[in-house]
Amino acid sequence: MQGVISFKQLTAGDKYPFFPRSNHSINGSKFCGFFKRRGFNLSISAISQNDITHEAQDASKRALAKKAVGLVKSGMVVGLGTGSTASLAIEELGRLISQGKLKDVVAVGANYQSRVLARQFGVKTVDLNDVNNVDIAFDGADEVDLNKNILKGGGAAHTMQKVLDSMAKECIILVDQSKVVLQLGSTFPVPVEVLPPAISPVLRRLVTLGGVPEIRSALRKDGPVITDLGNMMVDVSFPNGIQNPAELEKSINIIPGVIENGIVSGVASSVVVAIQGRDDVMVISLEEFAKILRDQTKADST
Ligand code: 5RP
Repeated sequence: MQGVISFKQLTAGDKYPFFPRSNHSINGSKFCGFFKRRGFNLSISAISQNDITHEAQDASKRALAKKAVGLVKSGMVVGLGTGSTASLAIEELGRLISQGKLKDVVAVGANYQSRVLARQFGVKTVDLNDVNNVDIAFDGADEVDLNKNILKGGGAAHTMQKVLDSMAKECIILVDQSKVVLQLGSTFPVPVEVLPPAISPVLRRLVTLGGVPEIRSALRKDGPVITDLGNMMVDVSFPNGIQNPAELEKSINIIPGVIENGIVSGVASSVVVAIQGRDDVMVISLEEFAKILRDQTKADST
């Protein structure tokens, strides 16, 4: 099996993602190295997410979902994230429950999507206020850096996701390699949930932090996205990069009128990365992923 990690841009201080979401075309003959690992040849090449088929992306997400749900034990309280990856994990959780492989599991959903899916797949949900703790939470992300800082909120659900993820004894973040970046904000703006009556002062304060804020527009509705909690979404890009995610997370959250932003620092217990091959998927830890990249950098520079 052959997987591809792009890391053409991997140099110190580089803020580009390892696997840019651009339109580079695959050039299979341009492989500059192979890394044999558990029978999987990791080859380093410039290849983009757009080159991977929808089926391959789906296979990655399913592999991540299986990995996450494999950590759930009978009797646990499970925090359900949102997004396409977390949705597949909810489906997988339902499958194991219906097969009797997991018993007495209750779940807390981060938003309407996860609660509806849980019901659909036979996963019993309870209100967050009905549980004292969450044993394990699994969630997707839009970007992850090598220090397990995360950027979330592509689905405008980050506020309750952060509550669940930070409550959980174990928080498992599921991403494919396209989402691993050297610096948060490389490919994605920072989503900020804002109280609607405070939108103008909040926008001005975000500019003073070096951000370029834009109110998120709905796709199949005229006007702004309104979150499940009834607030507006602002996407803030930081053209000078995000040097200190934890600090920016705090600086945004202390603006009066801000409900929560999508930077999640110091919460993930583990990040699991799917590497898409052309016909198979390998799932490894972020630490293993980083090591492969470091080793390959060394090999390339010698
Ligand atoms: C929603 C989120 C999602 O977890 C994030 O957008 C990743 O989604 P996907 O698994 O579909 O790529 O933060 O607010």
